[in-house]
Amino acid sequence: MLWARRMAHQDPLPEDLDRVALEALKRVADGMTLGLGTGRAAEAFIRRLGEKSRRGMKVQGIPTSKRSEELARRENITVVTLEEVNHIDIAFDGADEVTPELHLTKGLGGALLRERVVAYEAESFVVLVTPEKLVEKLGARTVIPVEIIPFAAPTIRRHLAILGGTVTLRNKQGGLGPFMTDNQNWIFDVKLDPITDPALTDAKIRAIPGVVDTGIFLGMADCVLVGHPNEVVTLKSV
Ligand code: A5P
Repeated sequence: MLWARRMAHQDPLPEDLDRVALEALKRVADGMTLGLGTGRAAEAFIRRLGEKSRRGMKVQGIPTSKRSEELARRENITVVTLEEVNHIDIAFDGADEVTPELHLTKGLGGALLRERVVAYEAESFVVLVTPEKLVEKLGARTVIPVEIIPFAAPTIRRHLAILGGTVTLRNKQGGLGPFMTDNQNWIFDVKLDPITDPALTDAKIRAIPGVVDTGIFLGMADCVLVGHPNEVVTLKSV
């Protein structure tokens, strides 16, 4: 992916993401187990965490994708699995949309399912974004990613259309067949009108057999760090 190449190890971090990553890092203490998200913001955080850990801070991370795992290993961060730990202190991740209630859309990077698993287990879930991600309602800015089992794609597509969605099967970069998640599933990107009742929409999508997860994350974020040009603003859940 283009952004993944841009975020390659040696490339300079975009300033806004770096600022928010540094702010996030202030929450990390020696001995913590951290959820490591996926995407540009999460990768900015992983790179800054790598610096800290090379300077002697003892932390271990559970990556939410193979891509983040590769980066964490390159950064010499100790990588652990869910089997090896029974507690995650903080999960750090990006998001595609954030509402005033701190509801999120996630999954444009394709890692929504593992991101949810890790965020759910974490004592605290901290989200890193830039201001263009702030929306009044989910669905206003992006599609809603829906992870599905490939077998059920034809029926799920029909049911999502009945719910009013414009449904697109996500393809690999360059259009070489369907994008495959780390869980060997496919993703439907569903364009909906801005969502007025996200819990209901989420429940309706989840009720379709073969749907594994949606990118709608409700009531999960404890705080959102927004990297503005000259400051990082912290939004807290009420
Ligand atoms: C990955 O599956 C996503 O949920 C990302 O967290 C989300 O797409 C935000 O990514 P960026 O930080 O790259 O915008």
